[in-house]
Amino acid sequence: MSSPRPLALLIAVFFIPLKSFSVSPGVTTSRGLVVAAEGHAAEAGAAILRKGGNAVDAAVATALTLAVTYPRAGNIGGGGFMVVRLADGTATAFDFRETAPGGATRTLYQDGEGKVVKGRSTEGHLAAAVPGTVAGLAMALERMGSGKLAWAELVEPARALAEKGFEVTDAMAEDLSASAELLGANAAARRIFLRDGKYYTAGDTLRQPELAATLGRMQAEGPGEFYTGRTAELLAADMAAHGGLITKSDLAGYRAVERAVLRGEYRGYELITMPPPSSGGIALLQMLAMLEGYDVASLAPAGAEKIHLFVEVMRRAYADRAAYLGDPDFTKIPVSELLDRDYLGRRAATIDPKRATPSKTLGGGLSAATEATKPESMETTHFSVMDAAGNVVSCTYTINGIYGCGVVAGETGILLNNEMDDFTSRPGTPNAFGLVQGEANAIQPRKRPLSCMTPTIVLRDGKVVIVTGSPGGATIINTVVQVITNLIDHRMTPADAVAAKRFNHQWLPDAITHEPGFASEAVIYELKAKGHELRLRKLYPNDPPRWSGTQGSAETIVVDLVTGVRTGVPDGRRPGTAAVAE
Ligand code: DON
Repeated sequence: MSSPRPLALLIAVFFIPLKSFSVSPGVTTSRGLVVAAEGHAAEAGAAILRKGGNAVDAAVATALTLAVTYPRAGNIGGGGFMVVRLADGTATAFDFRETAPGGATRTLYQDGEGKVVKGRSTEGHLAAAVPGTVAGLAMALERMGSGKLAWAELVEPARALAEKGFEVTDAMAEDLSASAELLGANAAARRIFLRDGKYYTAGDTLRQPELAATLGRMQAEGPGEFYTGRTAELLAADMAAHGGLITKSDLAGYRAVERAVLRGEYRGYELITMPPPSSGGIALLQMLAMLEGYDVASLAPAGAEKIHLFVEVMRRAYADRAAYLGDPDFTKIPVSELLDRDYLGRRAATIDPKRATPSKTLGGGLSAATEATKPESMETTHFSVMDAAGNVVSCTYTINGIYGCGVVAGETGILLNNEMDDFTSRPGTPNAFGLVQGEANAIQPRKRPLSCMTPTIVLRDGKVVIVTGSPGGATIINTVVQVITNLIDHRMTPADAVAAKRFNHQWLPDAITHEPGFASEAVIYELKAKGHELRLRKLYPNDPPRWSGTQGSAETIVVDLVTGVRTGVPDGRRPGTAAVAE
């Protein structure tokens, strides 16, 4: 039978637009601004700045609002990381990554024969880890908030939007129906997000009365209510009724952790980024240190030489990630060895400018040990905040998969994460995406799964010049390295630096994944001739078709040191991203 496919393919190839998404010129101001994945949430933060709140106050309001208006990733049922730098130079990181429940075991997601059971670590109650977002936001507020605005005031925009509802956009309607299978498997999620099968369309109002009630309790009783109050009771009861593991004692025992930021340097710029349990900061600093030995500025931004160099640097950093990284409270992580300039110089010296290094010949560089990594997938969101005084927040948080594990916990209205899938389900066994991961990241009770989230702040002469980060699972670190080098080396405008087409190499699989149009046909030919395999980015599971092929969403702030002008650039790849000035 003759198939119509080749013709369809030809048409598809011809019609992949070079600029498949809109390029936002950004919003400029000399005062404060918030850049986030959704407009109500960016506005909620900006309104707090107008009331005299600082960047941390605004970040708390934005994060809570995203939990209502951007349920695919915004959350109080997940976790994340926030890097803060105050204008006085103080910098710190808040780790509110989820933890494995006390009842979790190494083999939780395996069957009796030791095989990983498909879907068990990604869908339903068993996939959820103990949420950290509320504890992390509360800790950040207590430590670094202005003290001028009470917790209750910061919860209010989110609570009001959950109660009164907000208008569903075209993109959100499309997004919800793309996840109908996942959300439809849980009664509360089906009722709230799919209207029991009467799907939302653009212009409808999405109200979340249970979530409003939960936020109302947290508003009245404080953030501890989530962990020890009625919310904890409802969440634990729903877990017990549906075979989940999270108990009241897991919730009561959850603690956010304040960690020392990771610092590095690149061509005279200072970087402040996230330490483990994210792999993001270490891998970012490793890549930049390896790149520093090359004159990146002289290379064409989308040329074969540049892409080859970046891919080789990415490959080496991700191989180290696989071999050495995990939760620092459970695994000894050789941070200073991994960031040692001599080590990274030797590592970069193994790059052959003419040939791709096959990943199978490359393990962790500190020793001969090779363990494979599991690049994550699916959904997360990043936002950047700067206030008029120059305090900044870079925050990436997540429920992992799009709409997490698809479960709304009973009457809480809270959509839960499936962060357990960021752990090693079985060392050496490929996961659902055909990838394998390492021992340092094996499941243990109360352990934090390894992450790629990379909230980052860049300074020059002690002044903030870039605040950035991105969702995108395993690709996050590579998105951040490209945004930063587009600005520092290629001297792109803020809008171009964020819009430039992206590519990704994560050691395994041994292939470059890329956005459509990331390089010319001639460059692609050259890369193939060097031995690289290239794959057009695929749609993540549950992603709506219009987001096909995009990598990340870097909601970024760039400050012009000469004029002091601050530009907030919402990433045009995703519909609805917004920058709102104070
Ligand atoms: O922590 C991580 O690295 C992952 N759970 C992030 C997932 C993600 O970014 C999905 N985003 N699109």
